[in-house]
Amino acid sequence: MATGSFVVRPTDGLHGEATVPGDKSISHRAVMFGALAQGTTHVRGWLAAGDTEASLSSIQGLGVQVIRHNANDLTIYGGELHPPTETLNLVNAGTGIRLLAGIMAGQPFGSVLDGTEQLRRRPMKRIMEPLRLMGADITATNDRAPLTIKPANLKGIRYEMPMASAQVKSSILLAGLFADGATTVVEPGPARDHTERMLSAMGVNLAVEGHSVTVTPGKTLQAQDFSVPGDFSSAAFLIVAACITPDSDITLTGINLNETRTGLLDVLLEMGADITVSDKGLEAGEPAGTLQIRHSALKAVEIGGDTVVRMIDEFPVFMVAALCAEGRTVVRNAEELRVKETDRIKVMAGELKKLGAEITETEDGFIIDGPQKLMGAIVDGHDDHRVAMSMTIAGLIADEQTVVNDSKCAGDSFPGFAETLARLGGQLVEQDALEEA
Ligand code: S3P
Repeated sequence: MATGSFVVRPTDGLHGEATVPGDKSISHRAVMFGALAQGTTHVRGWLAAGDTEASLSSIQGLGVQVIRHNANDLTIYGGELHPPTETLNLVNAGTGIRLLAGIMAGQPFGSVLDGTEQLRRRPMKRIMEPLRLMGADITATNDRAPLTIKPANLKGIRYEMPMASAQVKSSILLAGLFADGATTVVEPGPARDHTERMLSAMGVNLAVEGHSVTVTPGKTLQAQDFSVPGDFSSAAFLIVAACITPDSDITLTGINLNETRTGLLDVLLEMGADITVSDKGLEAGEPAGTLQIRHSALKAVEIGGDTVVRMIDEFPVFMVAALCAEGRTVVRNAEELRVKETDRIKVMAGELKKLGAEITETEDGFIIDGPQKLMGAIVDGHDDHRVAMSMTIAGLIADEQTVVNDSKCAGDSFPGFAETLARLGGQLVEQDALEEA
């Protein structure tokens, strides 16, 4: 159901300093791993957003006590999971359902994991297949949620993943914590490594060798304090906004710069973007730092291979940058975009077309000849947070007014997106659902 709208007008320049909410991937993991750990886990800077709240309420549904000091600071009393009395509802969260399925597969009690219609459309075979090879009793109609999981004895496996996916890798490694023997996952590309970093910090016997990760069970997870750095994937909207909006000069602080996540940064630099990185240090075992972004002319780029997985969530907003770049941009090997919250190649090409853009879809990517001029129009967020925010960024450089309907989903990952952009000088206002057509 469409709710909320952003009304965006052409913007002269973005200025000032901002932070972004905590990293979504780390926030999901912090509550799940904290639930498994012996002792008390404190999480600071936790992302209080639609997707992560679903993971939090699911672990509470497993009887784990959580004290909420404020929206972003939590204490988790972990160590024991109890049979849930209800279906665990992961709402729209793909990371939530896939990681939790790995944990649930190894429990001595059953569970049902489900979510919204959107989540029910997403492929689950990618986790069901390897979990079943481990011995898991997991069933689903047409390999889609709801997932019904029954107790089973798991054994360690060696699994070569057909696609680079941190969710699949993590689901298997988490099941591996409850298996007999070691579990090895071999990934075809460098998918984000937050699970490996966090589990290692919690004392799990985990070895990384090239693209293969092995977890050997037997050690109890020890509670850790986590301080969650700002989400690079949320920063990406502001980074692209400043790159393409004339006269912009913004600074973003406390941003997670884990290099399995920052493919967009490398690509924008290759395109001629004016971005400087400073104050790089470690925050909760993750590199974090400050980014200064100034407007500059961009040139087209070709993207494929490992870079794709390092910027997989950033392609919707990258499309907007590519529309501003001189020359032909070609993206290949990005077929995973078709099974995200929406088919992000199709949906973004369709929505940007409403602004007058011409984008050629290919099976595994797209081609954009730039620069192109955009004209304001009424567009839709498709209940996909990254689509809604990307279309808002496009609205900053479109002539006249752009209305992004179904914009509330931005809160699935970036609560405060519109306020942050407006504070930097973005010409946008939020309208609530009542004012929609
Ligand atoms: C995530 C992994 C990625 C990413 C998603 C978050 C994670 O998905 O797109 O937003 O936290 O593990 P895939 O594993 O499907 O690539």
